[in-house]
Amino acid sequence: MELRSAAIRRLLVVFVCGVFGYVVFYNSLLMDRRGSLLHAAPAGPSSPTSRQKPPSQSTPAAVAGTAAPVKDSIRSRLEPGFRIANGGRCPERGRDLRLVILITTAPGHQRQRKAIRLTWGGSVAQRRDVTLLFFLGRAAEPHQSAVDEEQQTYGDIVQGNFVDAYNNLTLKSAVMLEWLDTFCPDARMILKTDDDMFINTDNLLKFVDVHSKDTNKLFGRLARRWKPNRSVKSKYYLSPESFAGKYLPDFVTGPAYVMTGDLVKPLYQATLDAKFLTLEDVLVTGVVADKLHIKRVHAKEFINDRIKADTCKFATSVSVHMVKFEEQFDIWKRIQDGRTRCPQYVPTGG
Ligand SMILES: *[C@@H]1O[C@H](CO)[C@@H](O)[C@H](O)[C@H]1NC(C)=O
Ligand SMILES: *[C@@H]1O[C@H](CO)[C@@H](O)[C@H](O)[C@H]1NC(C)=O
Repeated sequence: MELRSAAIRRLLVVFVCGVFGYVVFYNSLLMDRRGSLLHAAPAGPSSPTSRQKPPSQSTPAAVAGTAAPVKDSIRSRLEPGFRIANGGRCPERGRDLRLVILITTAPGHQRQRKAIRLTWGGSVAQRRDVTLLFFLGRAAEPHQSAVDEEQQTYGDIVQGNFVDAYNNLTLKSAVMLEWLDTFCPDARMILKTDDDMFINTDNLLKFVDVHSKDTNKLFGRLARRWKPNRSVKSKYYLSPESFAGKYLPDFVTGPAYVMTGDLVKPLYQATLDAKFLTLEDVLVTGVVADKLHIKRVHAKEFINDRIKADTCKFATSVSVHMVKFEEQFDIWKRIQDGRTRCPQYVPTGG
């Protein structure tokens, strides 16, 4: 009896010591981990990525530390993915597409989209070798429901994971590149344009066919040695913090430009890593394109300006800016009926 209870006591002591020791050891491990987290924290603010933003905003890519991290990059602002994706609008990764037309629009611009669908957009909508999509961001009600309904009817909308606002236009361009990279990486030619543009689709097809073997090029209205606008009231204002240089890098203006398909991936990746800037053309076709040594080619048929109602100008150009939605019908009818004799359109570089 005596012996047995002594043995049990000894066993108990060993057991209790073991449990205690294990708990102490495990706790110290936990402390160590927490401790190192605490130690890491003060280092955060001095590192270039975390100085400007709370840790909650850092994306997995930023944490993994790919490339040289940029303060306030597009990546740090933009949640990837799509609220409405419509990936099926680019069959076979775009291998058989002659042209992809991506149009920036805003949730409230139903009439602009409708006018495009009924005029120049409609002329390519039936083609198998062309695809056309409208790009927008998230909207508040009642616009969001209207967008969903429109998507149900036409199936030609892509919606990114960002709030649709003028100041977020660069995010819209990044979402376009993301969509191309995800669903349409083999497309040969892409037109990026806006919903207040008239696009002469016949001429555009001639233009892209002439350049279908080209690579590493952006075509459009070239802005050469423009200065950043430092007037806060300007729509094109650029703060010295967002762009410090005296001159902007040469860029093709945003209302309409064409890119060769090989540029999708490099432009997308480099745009994500670029510092956020509100002017999408300056950022994508200027700052980023310059960094990647992409050729920016001036083509005079990209007018990208408002012009007088001159039928022949519309008949011999690719893009004209500032077209009110009700004017789309008038212009479309006039270039279709062929009643005005105009010079033949000859693509630049053809
Ligand atoms: C877009 O713009 C709005 C208002 O200008 C802003 O509140 C929002 O955070 C911006 N960014 C994203 C990713 O939605
Ligand atoms: C900047 O914008 C203002 C207001 O729109 C305009 O009057 C001015 O000419 C612009 N400056 C430059 C350098 O483009």
